[in-house]
Amino acid sequence: MTEWQALTSLAADLAREAGSLALQQRQAVVGDVTTKSSSTDIVTAADQAAEALITDGLKHHRPDDAIVGEEGTAAEGTTGVTWFIDPIDGTTNFYYGLPGWVVSIAAVDETGTAAAAVYDPIADVLYSASRDGGAFGNGTRMHVRTATASLDQALIATGFSYLPDQRRRQAEILLDVVPNVRDIRRSGAAAKDLCLVAVGVYDAYYEAGLNRWDLAAGWLIAVESGARVEFLTPETADRRLLLAAPPHLFEPLAELLDRAGAPLDP
Ligand code: IPD
Ligand code: CA
Ligand code: CA
Repeated sequence: MTEWQALTSLAADLAREAGSLALQQRQAVVGDVTTKSSSTDIVTAADQAAEALITDGLKHHRPDDAIVGEEGTAAEGTTGVTWFIDPIDGTTNFYYGLPGWVVSIAAVDETGTAAAAVYDPIADVLYSASRDGGAFGNGTRMHVRTATASLDQALIATGFSYLPDQRRRQAEILLDVVPNVRDIRRSGAAAKDLCLVAVGVYDAYYEAGLNRWDLAAGWLIAVESGARVEFLTPETADRRLLLAAPPHLFEPLAELLDRAGAPLDP
């Protein structure tokens, strides 16, 4: 087993445990809500419990790595490896009792994500990848969809920010995207959207303004499944626009987004 595969195995174990915990807690915690950046950004006790479980596990097995978690974990490290945790990606789905929320864990070094696990507790599917080691869904190798010949036949996933100004701009961009593709999906979990590109369900996915914990795991899983994954906006942009697509659809979709007015600055 390579070092990255060992980290992927650790991420997978912790993602499964945290997902099971969150699933158990869902009924009990649904009333326990506070808000972050706006009233639609829901933080539940399950978010915090899942992050604590993952953080404890990482500190036990990888005490010298850095950790960044959406719910506030910020631990410094000395190894050059940083773990990015989204304990529940798709919090709105979680809150409303919808499927489509996942636990996302990634180990990142100076060249990007090296190990990744995304666990969907409702479907009981574990998506995982190690750098140069391929991507797997419950142990089966995954590949992006290559059968879709052109953008007008493509099913494209995207997501919206929690901030009203950005949501308005994102909706305006969609006005130009929708007529040019087969259809749009907004599933509500960026990490899962990237995994669904990896497994060939969605043709492609784009979103602006994601955080590292949203995208770090799904990025590697999509790349290792054959997707081209890049930011379309420069490093200096406030909210970077991420695009994940099979290589033959990447440029046409990037051009469509460009014509539609992305990047999505209000
Ligand atoms: C959100 C989800 C959503 C995406 C948002 C994210 P959260 O994360 O991934 O699909 O559109 O940009 O902030 O708050 O559910 O962890
Ligand atoms: Ca998230
Ligand atoms: Ca989250």
